[in-house]
Amino acid sequence: MEEVPLARPVLGEQEERAVIEVLRSGRLSLGPRVARFEELFAAQVGAAHASAVSSGTAGLHLALRAVGVGEGDEVVTSPFSFVASANAILYEGARPVFADIDPVTLNLEPGAAAAAVTDRTRALLPVHIFGYPADLPAFERVAEQHQLPIVEDACEALGARHHDGVAVGGRGHPAVFGFYANKQLTTGEGGMVTMADGAQKERIDSERNQGRAPNMDWLDHDRLGFNYRLSDIACALGIAQLERLADMLGKRAAAAERYREALSGLDGLELPCPDHDGNTRGWFVFVVQLPAGVDRDETVRALAERGIQSKPYLPAIHLLSFYRERLGHREGQFPVCERVAACSLALPFFPEITEGQIARVARELATVLGR
Ligand SMILES: Cc1ncc(COP(=O)(O)O)c(C=O)c1O
Repeated sequence: MEEVPLARPVLGEQEERAVIEVLRSGRLSLGPRVARFEELFAAQVGAAHASAVSSGTAGLHLALRAVGVGEGDEVVTSPFSFVASANAILYEGARPVFADIDPVTLNLEPGAAAAAVTDRTRALLPVHIFGYPADLPAFERVAEQHQLPIVEDACEALGARHHDGVAVGGRGHPAVFGFYANKQLTTGEGGMVTMADGAQKERIDSERNQGRAPNMDWLDHDRLGFNYRLSDIACALGIAQLERLADMLGKRAAAAERYREALSGLDGLELPCPDHDGNTRGWFVFVVQLPAGVDRDETVRALAERGIQSKPYLPAIHLLSFYRERLGHREGQFPVCERVAACSLALPFFPEITEGQIARVARELATVLGR
């Protein structure tokens, strides 16, 4: 029985050639591919600047520092995200303040976020979860009213577009993308921060490289920094992946449509929200919400037995044991997030998934659910 994996990157001759060229050049890091990848990526999302970093998490950390988040500050964010978006806030000694999500888009709800703003709030950090654009125009109104910067977690949202036509990552706020192997574009590990402000780019470029200014001597460092650099090998991979991005995004969108048709008859199963109000999702994962009363762990196990990989995705951050202990969270604080987190399941989803594999996933899911 052939296993249907959860995710699989598209890598071919162009990636092989690009990586071999770097190996032959001998410039494995701090070489010319970094700036090239940044330029191409910035153009892709319509941003003035981009800084390549070693991961999405590193990008979030540097972006939060770049907008001035520090010790004792609060950052309002979504509890329905990958843990990295909240962890990055803690790295700076700041506190993630969660607010509940919209039940349709699963993104941080702007009204709830506004209600969570206090005197200590230093930034807003919406997440474009599962590639669906967060309502940035609404967050921009909240930010303006309270004079707060926004950092966007766009790690899952390459290819997404807001209803006003601006690509996610192109609004000017620091927006952070991730290039882990399951993402729309991968460099194995890696990330990118896009932004409008040249001073922010300068700071991020310095802090990703141990606090060294671009024109400084090798051992002179004028601020605290990190090693969050992305290698030239990874950047070469990224450049090659950018060339096939439109094709990969198109295939992901087509696979999502096929899933929608194949699963539409399954009673009680909630599918990812279709594009609405002019927003366009950048397809990353296909996450369904299981019908009420279904045992999710048992569903995952039964699907695995039938050769179908699946995964609970995502747990509520505030209920993770570390967050309960550190910040004193408990059940019932963010009911929409908790309900969704308890029943959401990611199905196999990647550009090259075949019609036959999708039909098989749908068939097996129907059997397992007894539909
Ligand atoms: C929403 C979200 N934020 C942050 C990250 C962190 O990215 P990385 O794994 O590249 O550090 C991810 C990626 O997994 C993510 O999905």
